[in-house]
Amino acid sequence: MISASKTSKVVVIGTGLVGSSYAFSLINQNITDELVLIDLNKNKTEGDAMDLNHGIPFGAPTTIWAGDYSDCKDADIVVITAGANQKPGETRLDLIEKNVAIFKTIVASVMSSGFNGIFIVATNPVDVLAYATWKFSGLPMERVIGSGTILDTARFRFLLSEYFQLDFRNIHGYIIGEHGDTELPVWSQTRIGSEPIERYMSKYKQAGTQQDLDEIFINVRDAAYHIIERKGATHYAIAMGLARLTKAILRNERSILTISTLMQGEYGLNDLYIGVPAIVSNQGIERIVEIDLNEEETKQLHHSAKVLNDAINVIRN
Ligand code: LAC
Repeated sequence: MISASKTSKVVVIGTGLVGSSYAFSLINQNITDELVLIDLNKNKTEGDAMDLNHGIPFGAPTTIWAGDYSDCKDADIVVITAGANQKPGETRLDLIEKNVAIFKTIVASVMSSGFNGIFIVATNPVDVLAYATWKFSGLPMERVIGSGTILDTARFRFLLSEYFQLDFRNIHGYIIGEHGDTELPVWSQTRIGSEPIERYMSKYKQAGTQQDLDEIFINVRDAAYHIIERKGATHYAIAMGLARLTKAILRNERSILTISTLMQGEYGLNDLYIGVPAIVSNQGIERIVEIDLNEEETKQLHHSAKVLNDAINVIRN
């Protein structure tokens, strides 16, 4: 259990664009007391540590250093962003072979330090690699968390807030399933303020149709492709999502976030990691929140689970 008095310590493995953006987010939001950077490229981690430390006088006092796997021993959280990322035209699932092999080494190195905290997995395909981390580490499922659809849900709420010209904090809705091409919006549980979205649109004569909403979802699902086409990678928003997840753990917030976690019968699914709403605390995953899905949403979630199951077989076999 992460006690409030203990100095909080986060280790990030991989200081590419996502890892270094995550480090920058943690510092600027004053989320952790200590931050350790690990990467195969030692020059990069030393340079990042120097560059981030020089910014401390402008912000929160965080102790940052370029470290090694021995620093994981007393870490509260180890975040893995290392691995190959999508190139234009590549799906996240195309990265499985490469990144499962990389994870085998990384997780073994972390566990050999005596690490007994919480893993956050960000590398894609995140649902498969979170499952792999759970298997390779031997830690209880509640302490191996994938970023899942935390970013997709943020994109969903942002685009809906733009569409309705409302504060994003009044848009309540989830994207669940694979963090990828088979993810799905839970329209039946999406609310604007306290009103179901359909009711809101009909009541306020909101110009717009289900087609508009479907278009918004497609823009959510395909956002990464559009960004990668333009700038070669995504990293800022996922880094902020990882910082949000880190904060919920270190501050014991018991927040409901759509992360990737192990199904053990919930939603009729077993033995796979997939994005669903769950309560996140300093224990890791406290409980999965089983929201009511309509028939179509259940069908889509089970399709997404089948795609992930077939992909996870790479680890099972
Ligand atoms: C994206 C990456 C994090 O969706 O998969 O931007």
